[in-house]
Amino acid sequence: MAAEKVTTDERRRTLADGNVIPIVGLGVWQVPNGPECENAVRWGLEAGYRHIDTAQAYGNEESVGRAVRDSRIPREEIFITTKFYPARSDPAAEAEKSLQRLGVDYVDLYIIHWPQQGPTWAWPGMETAKERGYTRSIGVSNFSVAELEQVIGVASTPPVVNQIQFSPFEYRRALLEACASHDVAVEAYSPLGTGRHLGHPAVAAVAERVGRTPAQVLIRWCIQRDTIVLPKSTHRDRIEVNAQVFDFALSDEDMAVLDDLDQSHGTEVARERKWW
Ligand code: A2P
Repeated sequence: MAAEKVTTDERRRTLADGNVIPIVGLGVWQVPNGPECENAVRWGLEAGYRHIDTAQAYGNEESVGRAVRDSRIPREEIFITTKFYPARSDPAAEAEKSLQRLGVDYVDLYIIHWPQQGPTWAWPGMETAKERGYTRSIGVSNFSVAELEQVIGVASTPPVVNQIQFSPFEYRRALLEACASHDVAVEAYSPLGTGRHLGHPAVAAVAERVGRTPAQVLIRWCIQRDTIVLPKSTHRDRIEVNAQVFDFALSDEDMAVLDDLDQSHGTEVARERKWW
């Protein structure tokens, strides 16, 4: 694909419920509440990000909200995601508390952070959160195909996203295909392998070929695999560089090189890690 064929439409996607989500979002996992998180979000907004991904479990919703308010960018122009911490019992009540911490009237997306104690019990409460206007969209995270299908089976309002660990090294084809078949958008967290994948020689070779950084290549691969991608950084220069991924494209050959890095061995979700 030639760079001139990449349109600005590629920057946004319409979810199954009609809400529009920016394709690249800034992740703030493990960024402490306070100046570090506020700066990251502020720099992200200044660099053009209009999508911030936080969670109740991250403990930094206050800082995300403060940076959003301080930016003076109209609320409706920024897509905010938070995640229900499933060790707690009432998703709607917890959403209301998130709104207080964020200092906003609604979030754009509210997702179950991981399927603790089963995939379905929290879904009615997620639907309540949406009905009450606490969130525009609802979804899940770290759900396998079977767990996703169980939720869809009980849902009045089905999930519109599944946020999973996803990169060329965790190329979860079966889950990606199942999500597409259910009109569930995949959101890719840890697209850089929390930094581990940036030094891989194959990634470096593609980066050199296209004249971009390894991080841009990995983020671009996620976009071309039809996911919404959530790179995380607390450094201003990296935050800026990671957003500059709409003015080039990876060839089919380079996509295939990256596809071959997959080490997920058919696993659908990252069960080995702590998600919070
Ligand atoms: P830092 O936050 O110190 O910038 P992932 O998005 O896969 O979770 O990866 C995040 C990790 O990758 C963080 O440790 C982050 O470090 C690092 N990182 C993010 N963007 C870049 C970049 N452009 N170049 C190098 N390291 C990066």
